[in-house]
Amino acid sequence: KTIYLKDYTPAPYQAAYVNLSFNLLPGKTIVTSEVKYAKNPAGVSNDLVLDGEEQNILSVALNGQRFESYTIEDGQMRIVNPGDEFILTIISEIDPAANTALEGLYQSQGNYCTQCEAEGFRRITYYQDRPDVLSVFTVRIEADAKLYPVLLSNGNLQEEGGLPDGRHFRVWHDPFPKPCYLFALVAGDLQRVADTFTTMSGRQVDLHIYVRAGDEKQCGHAMESLKKSMKWDEEVYGREYQLDLFNIVAVSDFNMGAMENTSLNIFNTALVLAHQETATDSDFMSVEGVIAHEYFHNWTGNRVTCRDWFQLSLKEGFTVFRDQEFSADLNSRAVQRIDDVNGLRRLQFPEDGSPLAHSVQPDQFIEISNFYTKTIYEKGSELIRMQHTLLGAQTFRKATDLYFDRYDGHAVTCDDFVQCMADASGRDLSQFFRWYKQAGTPTVQFSSAYDSAKQSYTLTFKQSQPDTPEQTNKQPLHIPVAVGLLDANGKEVLPTQVLELTAREQTFTFTDLPGRPVPSILRGFSAPVKLETDLSDDDLRLLQVHDSDGFNKWEAGQTLALRTIERVMKDPAADISQYVADVGALIAQGLQGIGDKALLARALTLPMIGVIAQHQAVIDPAAIDAARTAIVHQIKRAHKEALAALYDANGNPGSFSITPEAMGRRALQAAVLEILTSTNGTGCAARAKAHYDAADNMTDRVTALASLSDSSQPQRAEVLADFYKRFKDYPLVVDKWFSLQAIANREQIFEDLTMLRNHADFNIKNPNRVRSLYSAFAINNPVKFHDPSGKGYAFLRDVIIELNTINPQIAARMVTPLREWKRYTPALQALMKAALEAIQATPNLSGDVFEIVSKSLNA
Ligand code: ARG
Ligand code: ZN
Repeated sequence: KTIYLKDYTPAPYQAAYVNLSFNLLPGKTIVTSEVKYAKNPAGVSNDLVLDGEEQNILSVALNGQRFESYTIEDGQMRIVNPGDEFILTIISEIDPAANTALEGLYQSQGNYCTQCEAEGFRRITYYQDRPDVLSVFTVRIEADAKLYPVLLSNGNLQEEGGLPDGRHFRVWHDPFPKPCYLFALVAGDLQRVADTFTTMSGRQVDLHIYVRAGDEKQCGHAMESLKKSMKWDEEVYGREYQLDLFNIVAVSDFNMGAMENTSLNIFNTALVLAHQETATDSDFMSVEGVIAHEYFHNWTGNRVTCRDWFQLSLKEGFTVFRDQEFSADLNSRAVQRIDDVNGLRRLQFPEDGSPLAHSVQPDQFIEISNFYTKTIYEKGSELIRMQHTLLGAQTFRKATDLYFDRYDGHAVTCDDFVQCMADASGRDLSQFFRWYKQAGTPTVQFSSAYDSAKQSYTLTFKQSQPDTPEQTNKQPLHIPVAVGLLDANGKEVLPTQVLELTAREQTFTFTDLPGRPVPSILRGFSAPVKLETDLSDDDLRLLQVHDSDGFNKWEAGQTLALRTIERVMKDPAADISQYVADVGALIAQGLQGIGDKALLARALTLPMIGVIAQHQAVIDPAAIDAARTAIVHQIKRAHKEALAALYDANGNPGSFSITPEAMGRRALQAAVLEILTSTNGTGCAARAKAHYDAADNMTDRVTALASLSDSSQPQRAEVLADFYKRFKDYPLVVDKWFSLQAIANREQIFEDLTMLRNHADFNIKNPNRVRSLYSAFAINNPVKFHDPSGKGYAFLRDVIIELNTINPQIAARMVTPLREWKRYTPALQALMKAALEAIQATPNLSGDVFEIVSKSLNA
């Protein structure tokens, strides 16, 4: 059933309070919910309509009297005109142990936990499961004291005590009204790591991280990240935490990354646990970023929440922007931006170009879980970033202050957010709002002309918007384009200015320029567009060396690389010696110790296949890979000695740390090792194995394994075996062991995949493990996923069909790489389409999978 934004009406009833009581018993859980309802003056109906799924109602009482005049149909309980004010008590029975969908109350390794966003609360009790119904929750949990010593819910602990038969209880109270998607409960045998934070007004907050026994040593980084996040939100946004306690619980079975339940964040272990021996630098960065993300939701999501799920990006886009900026402030701004933009291009741009393209504020959906997308999150963040760019940091802060003032405790829309930006700045942002409504990645084309007589320079921009499903003839957008100018020697003659495009075509003139400048356009990637440049290779080379904007410096090199790849794709014998020499100059700079190592690592890495694919009219991953690999081989052959020297110069300096400098060093070695091992010979394998053997940290181990993954040398198996033996008791590392094999571009891959699928450690019910095999393969092994035999598609198809009944959310998510089938060669298209059709023909297809598959096929 499709739900439309235009059909929104306020909830008919408000909930004054919600008292929940959970009796956790073997084989079943009894939930008692007592809610005081009052008619919503803004409501348009008199009927109380409660959502409920996957539960048996044991009894219903209205104002304490047994009540049976309700109907239940399509997962909704309806009570016709129950009155202006009343108390409804519903007792029901649920079965958390049988809940493999991991929505609502479920069990993970024996412990109980919840996931209610977006619509999981209805699997716990009948309620108006919508974000605009805010209420004060009191939660009593009763369970066996030995098996479940830890009992948690939102807010403050109000009461606790022992009960007969070895049972105990706790009562939690959250004084701040909240929507039910932020409700959480945890019961289990967990260890607590504790610290404190003193807020800007001097209040002390207890910080607790709960993990399984043995994992306590891996919590330090998450705890530090939490304290840094709390401080940053005070400093940058003036936002203070309101409660005396902040809990984080790590669980192994989780559909997403983490969840911001008020004062009781629940996390995938993958985003809490981090130790040098088991986590890579990128894991450390993700933990920091996601801890921050969930903490920041306290203000952007919880205290100010969404009116309805069409507004999901109100909280997610803004919170992603906040966590990206936090990470940029704490680490390297340029590196952060490069990595974020790379992710956007590799994963969001394809979504925008697919049948599933949707706007940041969508108009319709069937299953809201399918809208936790790169568009809502990452493009949504870009929309906030553009407003930050247009307003400037100070005015932006004024606007967010206004937003929090105006809407604390309210459920609002993306329109309300942008209105605050407009009110605080005095700017008209109505055209800007089109970004929220128009799907698809815009293209911005620019051309330039220098008039030596007038010493003036003009930049002409043209913007266009692609048609997307159900959206054609789009309007021009308000696009901030950050521009700087360099002279022929690379000196900056015009510092960054933000040009504002509002028309289809616009010209900007710069005067007093004695020579033709080289423009640095879209600095910092100031708008999520595809930029078409008329710059010459020489201009790009100048920017690659001299641009003061770290992002555009990298971008210039990537554009040169893309041009080279396209040349080789057209003509494998093309002369690319100039490009190879340019790379040589970068290596030489690195050898002299010039510049940032992390940036050099990224400059030495050719664009990934998924990014290159975005520039192709018809995608042929094998052809892209062949060209890309041929170029890497030439780079290796031309610069073998210099690369080896650069590798040696950046070896392990002794003690491990995760400073940007240390991470940059490891990233540089990894980038160099990838080039050095690209030819897969014995020397390569020996070098990679030596890297592995010398490693005192997981980053270096993974670097070595990744560079051996395609190898046909014996070292590959040796290192993989050692890795498994060493880390078999660490599920998150076993995930890496699965992934490192799934991404191998080698002949035997399909045998490997079968072996991994049948491995004793594979578990279809654990999303991390499923992703470690299937997502790693389908997303990070484009060549073999798109194998002309169709075996890659069949492998994915089968797991989607299997997961359809076990975990529909994960099943639907797995369809992602098939969505873009029309972008591929005719032969691949036919095979991808067949896989989609086979999934569509599955009996009992879940709504989640149905939506993605049918939209993929129909567009
Ligand atoms: N709000 C969570 C976040 O921090 C995501 C939870 C989504 N859960 C889901 N089942 N779709 O981004
Ligand atoms: Zn979020």
